[in-house]
Amino acid sequence: MSKQFDVVVIGGGPGGYIAAIRAAQLGFQVACIDEWKNAAGGPAPGGTCTNVGCIPSKALLQSSEHFDHANHHFAEHGISATGVKMDVAQMIARKDTVVKQNNDGILYLLKKNKVTFFHGRGSFAGQAEGGYTIHVAGKTEEAISAKQVIIATGSNARALPGTPFDEVNVLSNDGALRLGAVPKKLALIGSGVIGLEMGSVWRRLGAEVTILEGLPTFLGAVDEQIAKEAKKAFDKQGLKIELGVKVGEIVNGKKGVTVHYTNAKGEAVKLDADKLIISIGRVPNTIGLNTEAVGLQLDERGAIVVDADCKTNLPGVWAVGDVVRGPMLAHKAEEEGVAVAERIAGQHGHVNFNTIPWVIYTSPEIAWVGRTEQQLKADGVAYKAGSFPFLANGRARALGDTTGMVKMLADATTDEILGVHIVGPQASELIAEAVVAMEFRASAEDIARICHAHPSLSESTKEAALAVDKRSLNF
Ligand code: FAD
Ligand code: NAI
Repeated sequence: MSKQFDVVVIGGGPGGYIAAIRAAQLGFQVACIDEWKNAAGGPAPGGTCTNVGCIPSKALLQSSEHFDHANHHFAEHGISATGVKMDVAQMIARKDTVVKQNNDGILYLLKKNKVTFFHGRGSFAGQAEGGYTIHVAGKTEEAISAKQVIIATGSNARALPGTPFDEVNVLSNDGALRLGAVPKKLALIGSGVIGLEMGSVWRRLGAEVTILEGLPTFLGAVDEQIAKEAKKAFDKQGLKIELGVKVGEIVNGKKGVTVHYTNAKGEAVKLDADKLIISIGRVPNTIGLNTEAVGLQLDERGAIVVDADCKTNLPGVWAVGDVVRGPMLAHKAEEEGVAVAERIAGQHGHVNFNTIPWVIYTSPEIAWVGRTEQQLKADGVAYKAGSFPFLANGRARALGDTTGMVKMLADATTDEILGVHIVGPQASELIAEAVVAMEFRASAEDIARICHAHPSLSESTKEAALAVDKRSLNF
């Protein structure tokens, strides 16, 4: 007889563990199965985000930013710091501690909410009594069953055909986050989110970084003006980004990696590097789920097919996060997890895809919500634009970081905010105001009339809103 639950969640990343907690809050008996192991073989819930994604990357970005500041920015404040050295092992150990704090925090939260945690791989064993039997393979093997199953099995790094990740020289995000030393020469393929964040970490620590991007445009999904401003800052930092390349043969040798590629001018180029990070997107993960046992439908990319409510083709089976369509973001996975738990309880969970913020944690940070200027043009929407540079913001001057701007786009007739795009200091925090405003369908004038603390970076958002009506006060 298998153990019975109301809801079984397969995967304990941000989509899965949050869905499990919300379902438990709603009064269900919930099990959450996650197979991630820490170095000692113990459970490490939190998924990609906690173990090899959002959290460790931000820890390394923070450490490397401190190093960069000590070397390049302390002097202007009158602080002399000579002989500043980077202890990479200590930086990685700190990152591992941050990860473990998050793993332990999630285990605590699951326990607090009376979610039964299983450490092992969950797979469909078949249908049973109007529900599903899930086989759990961990230190021991057991079967559990439930009428409702939420799949949140995440994604894996996409490899280039013929160039498998060895995590020694050819690195995915996993290896890129635990290098033992600063490579002299670092090559990256793909100048998307991971390429820019990881490239920034190792460049700040002294690596000579080259990023090869297949597309002719830089950050095509970002508002063009913002992407241009960011590119200028990255160029100045020495982050070498080559656009429009065609990557050819990659030779993984004893001493390092050689990437053969054709550049935008059509010339054949050979790039030698000590390490190569491949960051060309991620693929949905359904490995080991045994989807065939129950006939779960996947699309041609391997993603689980779901409708707008995250329902799969099977009754009582739902899927959320990176394993389904939509942006591969932790907060999107979490929102879907909450919404599904609420739908199972008969409530009306909702995820607004139009107000999901994006952040790239480089320096300057890049953050946006809503539509870009190029999207509005393509959609034939009449809009007004207003922007405000951090150069004219007192707090940014005091911080010593005046790169970038806030840009607001509003409907030409109704003044409703349609998009906010930021490149500059603390963009990750500033974007929250724009998300709230758009969620409440605020107009640019609403933001312009709100009292913002002085001096603060957020005054730039107010000024951008004023600029929509061509009445900026400080620029
Ligand atoms: P995951 O986090 O991948 O979790 C899936 C879990 O399911 C894993 O623990 C896996 O072991 C487990 N699992 C899989 N199959 C089974 C099975 N059969 N049985 C049991 N367990 C199973 N997003 C952001 O929003 N902000 C960021 O700053 C950010 N930074 C990132 C940096 C990097 C380097 C990377 C790679 C990603 C980053 N992301 C970021 C993306 C974010 O990590 C993902 O969008 C998010 O983790 C997706 O959550 P998920 O729950 O869908 O899947
Ligand atoms: P990405 O989709 O952001 O970028 C991949 C880049 O690689 C694109 O610019 C693409 O044009 C390029 N590319 C693809 N194939 C190529 C090839 N053969 N040769 C050269 N270039 C090629 O994917 P990335 O950076 O791997 O990250 C995966 C996902 O993880 C992101 O889309 C995002 O959803 C998530 N993530 C989010 C972060 C955040 O929110 N701050 C941080 C890191 C990752």
